Amino acid sequence: MKILVTGGTGYIGSHTCVQLIEKGWQPVIIDSLVNSKISVLERIEKITGTRPAFVEGDVRDADLLQKVLREHAIEAVIHFAGLKAVGESISMPLKYYDNNVHGSVVLMEAMKQCNVKTLVFSSSATVYGDATKMPLKEDAPTSATNPYGQSKLMVEKIIADLCTSNPSWSITALRYFNPVGAHESGLIGEDPQGIPNNLMPFLAQVAVGRREELQVFGNDYQTPDGTGVRDYIHVIDLAQGHLCALAHAHGKAGYHVFNLGTGKGNSVLEMLNAFGKACGKKLKYKIASRRPGDVAASWADPQKAQSVLNWKAEKSMDDMCQDTWHWQSQNPNGYP
Ligand code: NAD
Ligand code: UFG
Repeated sequence: MKILVTGGTGYIGSHTCVQLIEKGWQPVIIDSLVNSKISVLERIEKITGTRPAFVEGDVRDADLLQKVLREHAIEAVIHFAGLKAVGESISMPLKYYDNNVHGSVVLMEAMKQCNVKTLVFSSSATVYGDATKMPLKEDAPTSATNPYGQSKLMVEKIIADLCTSNPSWSITALRYFNPVGAHESGLIGEDPQGIPNNLMPFLAQVAVGRREELQVFGNDYQTPDGTGVRDYIHVIDLAQGHLCALAHAHGKAGYHVFNLGTGKGNSVLEMLNAFGKACGKKLKYKIASRRPGDVAASWADPQKAQSVLNWKAEKSMDDMCQDTWHWQSQNPNGYP
């Protein structure tokens, strides 16, 4: 199967491309490189022996998309391309709606023109807003607390309407919980530009000496140790979820929504300790005030993905920390 992977040089896309190649499927990447480096391609080649086809371009470029879909005889699309910094989305909402919502509409229109009707979309647990009833099932109420989350919700709604309008579409929205970790080779991993927004890359940069200490955003939540609780999922398990979703959806019509999480929550302090163990260092931290917009706790009910997709997260917290540390220690400054 030939699969167009938008955002395929990014963090989750690159790991998914490795798994696609290992399964014998052919990824064709389109990425504008706005948040990734071209050297990712060499790393994918080092791991798999295959350099994926790559087109540098933007998903909002309708003509380019049609050209790529036709020339490569694409059968399905995985749509990772998008912007994901929650804080930036609050200060620059138009940038986020244009990239994430408009970009997705242009992509689906191009797919329609080229009669490619199978799509897997990167959604997020952020669509559950500030839900308090855990674990989160796919039919829990949705809402958004920032423009990034709103953009994911809007695209989910557009997809639902599209599938209603024409039953030949087969579209799967995967709601990721908190992706962490890296490929066990240490060759690919998460390489945020600037100060990391997320916990795990921040911890990794403290461990490698790029940052002084972690700020723990709040220790007065209604959680066992007072710090925020999240469902951390190894990026390799997450990548595997895309292959299962494609195998399930290809040729099967309709709109499908699945959580991809482990079903377990861990606190910030638990993560700090687990990462300290993996890197063999005591990581400095200080308690800071809550980060605006954060929820106390969020974890998935992953049962639906298990029963329908036959997918289950396999990797442990130790794997997540060890693989992140392997990647970060081998690439202290990220990709060249
Ligand atoms: P990433 O930034 O590493 O990867 C996204 C890739 O898309 C980058 O390579 C970037 O250059 C590219 N891109 C962005 N806008 C583009 C455009 N208009 N045209 C072409 N390429 C474009 O992010 P990631 O962590 O791999 O996330 C992938 C997807 O998963 C995103 O849609 C994100 O919103 C979603 N998601 C991520 C997380 C997370 O915590 N990492 C959680 C939930 C959902
Ligand atoms: N945290 C800190 N210090 C930091 C960074 C994070 O204490 O420097 C805490 C947060 O307060 C939270 C936990 O660590 O309690 C996890 O925070 P992340 O920023 O790593 O992850 P979030 O759950 O806030 O958000 C992530 C993505 C979103 C996505 C969401 C659900 O950033 O895009 O997961 O998938 F929507």
